[in-house]
Amino acid sequence: MARRVLHISDCHLVVRGETLLQIDTEATLRAVLHQAAGDAARNGCDAIIASGDVAHTPTVPVYERFLRIVSDYFDVPVLSLPGNHDVLHVMQEASMPMDAIVWPDWHLQALDSHEDDKPKSLITDIDRHSVAQGLQQGAAHSVLLATHHPLVEVDCPWLDKDRIAEPLELMNWLNGVSKQRIRGVVFGHAHQVVEGRVGGWPVFGAPSTGFQFQPRSAKFAVDDQGPGYQWLDLADDKTIKRTVRRVEG
Ligand SMILES: [Fe+2]
Repeated sequence: MARRVLHISDCHLVVRGETLLQIDTEATLRAVLHQAAGDAARNGCDAIIASGDVAHTPTVPVYERFLRIVSDYFDVPVLSLPGNHDVLHVMQEASMPMDAIVWPDWHLQALDSHEDDKPKSLITDIDRHSVAQGLQQGAAHSVLLATHHPLVEVDCPWLDKDRIAEPLELMNWLNGVSKQRIRGVVFGHAHQVVEGRVGGWPVFGAPSTGFQFQPRSAKFAVDDQGPGYQWLDLADDKTIKRTVRRVEG
């Protein structure tokens, strides 16, 4: 049975009533979820992945508000994971859902690539142990991995310096641990659409639900493209089809 997953990223929620870069990140998240719920009414939605930087102000009330906002539009399992603006123990305190979603055919697995309050990717032995444990669950034929940091260069030096190091070594290790079941990776952090490959694996970076970074920018630069999200169609033939959508209007 094919699965359809909504991937949102880099929501950067702040304290209610505040804005970030003059953007009301709750309003843009709601606009994304509203439009995605319309898509889902036609084509379905089996789960949501939120790949980090859920909060820009990482407090328990902000994370709890994120979960309430999502539940206003969707009643499906959520897999969230921390980004560099998140704080893991606060997410845990807020009961953010961070466990793998395991169906009989597909398995959605998070890999923590963040370090609290530092932009650079860091995958520790504890992170590797945790992902290896997650991958032992169930007997799905295919695994979609979600992480925060890109595994490929996005042609923005100020972002590329923080990407995941030695991605091919990591992918080969993950594929071995998963018994050759990894089919692709999704991530955020770059606030732009990314498509690439690591070895034979397709990797898909999602736009932000809030604000975008300028493609091929040498330094921090905000782009004028609107909030976005992506759909991931996970097929019975073990392939992943990605469709990017922007909020209309
Ligand atoms: Fe971000």
